[in-house]
Amino acid sequence: MIPCQRHLFDIPDDIAYFNCAYMSPLMHKVVAAGQRAVTLKAQPWQISPPDFFSTPERARTLFAELINAQADDIAIIPSCSYGTATAAQNIPVAKGQTMVVLQDQFPSNVYPWRELAADRGAEVVTVPRGGNDGWTPRILDAITAQTAIVALPHCHWTDGGLIDLIAVGKKCRAMGAALVVDITQSIGALPFDVAAIQPDFAIAAGYKWMMGPYTLGFLYVAPKHQDGRPLEHNWIARKDSENFAGLVDYKSEFQPGARRFDMGEGANFIALPMAVVALEQLLEWGVDNIQETLSAMTGTIAERAAPLGLSASTPSLRAGHFLGLGFPGDVPEGLPERLGASNVFVSVRGQSMRVTPHLFNNEADVDRLISVLSEVL
Ligand SMILES: Cc1ncc(COP(=O)(O)O)c(C=O)c1O
Repeated sequence: MIPCQRHLFDIPDDIAYFNCAYMSPLMHKVVAAGQRAVTLKAQPWQISPPDFFSTPERARTLFAELINAQADDIAIIPSCSYGTATAAQNIPVAKGQTMVVLQDQFPSNVYPWRELAADRGAEVVTVPRGGNDGWTPRILDAITAQTAIVALPHCHWTDGGLIDLIAVGKKCRAMGAALVVDITQSIGALPFDVAAIQPDFAIAAGYKWMMGPYTLGFLYVAPKHQDGRPLEHNWIARKDSENFAGLVDYKSEFQPGARRFDMGEGANFIALPMAVVALEQLLEWGVDNIQETLSAMTGTIAERAAPLGLSASTPSLRAGHFLGLGFPGDVPEGLPERLGASNVFVSVRGQSMRVTPHLFNNEADVDRLISVLSEVL
């Protein structure tokens, strides 16, 4: 269990922020790294050509460590949608094949598949909610010999419903389907191991559980797709781009591994140093330890919310860091705003109130959440 880390963040005592699923706060040292980086751009003579490569490589290496991959497997991307678009461009889909998604899945991991299905004469199959046994058995049933792509999260963004990606990966391989995983709502807080899951692509926006800045994320590309076609063609992704004087000696070859999929201006001098500091801290805490600590916290909140009539799914069927509380009827009108007026911050998605804490939360926050909830319900 990791002790409370609130001192590392800029969170006043009277704020109970339970909204990491919306966006995490930045640690003081991440803010400082961003401020240093902004100052550096004021004096560009201090930025040299090797800087275009060294910080991206450091970030790739750290993210790779987080998911048990190699730096070569990682591309730098601005958003989840960029990652899903890259995957959609590089997985063959034939007429009549299917793509599997979940009901109420996050739109950046639905729209690209709808587009692709329309282009190819394929069909998007949506696995419905329901049942007491979680998502996994129904996902496994939906994957057939017709399936081209299974595009999933690790846990559902509305309520933390957990998916057994090892079992799903196995079924995908047996059926010849590609597995694309959006780990935005889990990576950094829930262990994810590419060696065990064997996804084709794994995509993470970095401003939630990775505690980084907005508009910076990472894309894992399995080695078998690393000779694919990037969305855009920028100069840094091409071979020998380190030699600025020789850039107009245009190259058809790319930088090695997944680097060809990097977004343009991936050497982001402000966002990348911030992401590096955040990733170093996550790795120092250890994702297993973060998951264990947050599971205990959400477990306590679920227990204390039950007498108020709020229900949570069985702990084994949801990710420990992510609590979705259900109401006996509809979610009361304006609930997040009413809680916000008392300095308690959560979000509502679908029929679920998301309570998504991190290591900055303490017992006083939990007391405030429960007491304000009992006043407004
Ligand atoms: C599951 C999930 N994926 C991705 C995103 C962000 O998507 P994008 O980076 O395309 O804006 C969110 C944001 O809430 C999310 O919940």
